[in-house]
Amino acid sequence: MYKKQRIRVAPICCGLAFLCVLLVWAVPVGAAARENSFELDQFIDPETCGACHDEIMAQWEGSLHNLSHKDPIYTRVAKFFREGLTDAGHIEEAESCVKCHTPVGFVTGFPTKVSDDLSKTPYVPAQGIQCDYCHVAVDVSRMYNNGLVLSPGQGEDDPGVKYGPFDDAEPDFHDAAFSKLHTDSKICGTCHDVKHVSFGTDLETTYTEWKNSPYNSSDPETHVSCQGCHMYQRPGVPATGSTPRPKNPGSAAAGAKQRPHIFTHNFVGANSGVPAMFNAEDKSAMAVERLKHAADLFLVMTDARTARVVVTNTGAGHSLPTGLGDLRQVWIEVVLTDRAGKTVFQTGVPDNNNELPENTVMFKVTLGDGLGNPVINMAKAKEILSDTRIPVGKSAARLFNLKATPQKGYTLTARLLYRSMPQKILNQLPGPALGPLPVVEMAAVQKTF
Ligand code: HEC
Ligand code: HEC
Ligand code: HEC
Ligand code: HEC
Ligand code: HEC
Repeated sequence: MYKKQRIRVAPICCGLAFLCVLLVWAVPVGAAARENSFELDQFIDPETCGACHDEIMAQWEGSLHNLSHKDPIYTRVAKFFREGLTDAGHIEEAESCVKCHTPVGFVTGFPTKVSDDLSKTPYVPAQGIQCDYCHVAVDVSRMYNNGLVLSPGQGEDDPGVKYGPFDDAEPDFHDAAFSKLHTDSKICGTCHDVKHVSFGTDLETTYTEWKNSPYNSSDPETHVSCQGCHMYQRPGVPATGSTPRPKNPGSAAAGAKQRPHIFTHNFVGANSGVPAMFNAEDKSAMAVERLKHAADLFLVMTDARTARVVVTNTGAGHSLPTGLGDLRQVWIEVVLTDRAGKTVFQTGVPDNNNELPENTVMFKVTLGDGLGNPVINMAKAKEILSDTRIPVGKSAARLFNLKATPQKGYTLTARLLYRSMPQKILNQLPGPALGPLPVVEMAAVQKTF
């Protein structure tokens, strides 16, 4: 729709200067209004795309983009955060989640808010962030809260143009065109920077973290986009900042020509728990591989009973952790055992309720209510109280008082661990019990005295 109108406008402009001024003014306004209204049957289901793009389909299936609407952690956190709110600003934010998590639904009219009956979501929107959403994006209106501007086709009979990285693709089923946007971090960044819709608080800043990092270099030789890591990963190739990122030669569709690199669509980050709930064990394994190549750990005794642990972000293209910096848990566990293997000192070890002790050394964001009090519910977040995450390439050093002097034969172990959410929050979510979520060892060092 959007595209057709633009084509009609052009010849009129040439003839009538006066009308032209009016129309040029009117088009962007109309386009902005239409950013949010398409017909559901304009979007083609992923299985149809997968009939030719079978390998890409197999990678995307079970990815967190495929699961963004169904992810039970997301749906239940969204419900939990929405409950009991009365402040208009809080409600506006708590209702906004579907804009990114169910984006095809949002632009076609259902669901438009979290409190809609999500079980009534039609089949195509329920498939999450999908082929015929990303590949009909033509522009970005703002670099946060999903500003993608779309130009979808008219369904399977008239699929329209699918935009991608090739300038010479000539498929039969759909038209194809090169899109610079698709080769740029911006197509990811517009959803991976999240601001509170009423208060403007930075809730997620993955794109900004990347943008301010050396990976956003002006030299094409050293520039590494989001795609440069996340769309090179496949089993056995974690493709992080500290590992090689070899090309993935192949063809983009059944019978299509060989190309030097086909961008993989696994979209793996750090979440290994949710894909496993949907039997996507391959994605879980890749998340573990990614986490194991994200950081370096270093351990040294600075005096008789003080250990110094240094964590360096060597592999991530953004802060460690990124995304939901207030919920994600990256922490240091330190354990000292005696000759018999008995624990003499420990910190960062979950208790019987799977909760971490208060004094655990963790790298995270703390959101506040605007009066200096910490809040868990992002809908209430008016300020960032603290941010101890580790930026790209940077190190964080922490001292641990072992409260005992290690004797000969004692072993000191430091581990960097990841879990996507505290058990304390999972326990509060509506519905049947969730968890425990996997704890992934990102790095470990050991010293025997
Ligand atoms: C989150 C957005 C997103 C989703 C969802 C997505 N793609 Fe892509 N796709 C991209 C981007 C970005 C590129 C190009 C990367 C680059 O050039 O840096 C790409 C590349 C491609 C290409 C070119 C060949 C290649 O892989 O390099 C094809 C074909 C393609 N995608 C098809 C699909 C199909 C089919 C699906 C659904 C199963 C899908 N895509 C889902 C973003 C997406
Ligand atoms: C009948 C087979 C077929 C179907 C169905 C199909 N494609 Fe394609 N597509 C192709 C072929 C062939 C190419 C060209 C591959 C090449 O040149 O390497 C292609 C290329 C692409 C490209 C790359 C365009 C570029 O210029 O970079 C994208 C993106 C894409 N398809 C997305 C989709 C999406 C989204 C769907 C579902 C709505 C879909 N395709 C359905 C066969 C198909
Ligand atoms: C339409 C909005 C949108 C776009 C565009 C988008 N993403 Fe996402 N992405 C999401 C959402 C929402 C999730 C989380 C889904 C969940 O966990 O339930 C996600 C999840 C991910 C994850 C997994 C995170 C984890 O915890 O493991 C990675 C990796 C990722 N995206 C990378 C990318 C890359 C790379 C691009 C660009 C090619 C991109 N995304 C484009 C919205 C988007
Ligand atoms: C240099 C490689 C690299 C680049 C570039 C990169 N990432 Fe990552 N990404 C990683 C690694 C390694 C991890 C796992 C460690 C972590 O969670 O930070 C990760 C994790 C993630 C996660 C999961 C975070 C979590 O804990 O839930 C998301 C989401 C993500 N990346 C999105 C992006 C987006 C969006 C971009 C571009 C703006 C990007 N990444 C650029 C390497 C990279
Ligand atoms: C601007 C886009 C955007 C909006 C709006 C958005 N999210 Fe997300 N969400 C993301 C991205 C990107 C990720 C992946 C980041 C990561 O993995 O850390 C994500 C991940 C999540 C996760 C982690 C899921 C898991 O399996 O661990 C939860 C929970 C979540 N979002 C809840 C919400 C809630 C609740 C709202 C509304 C109040 C919301 N999101 C609004 C983009 C968005």
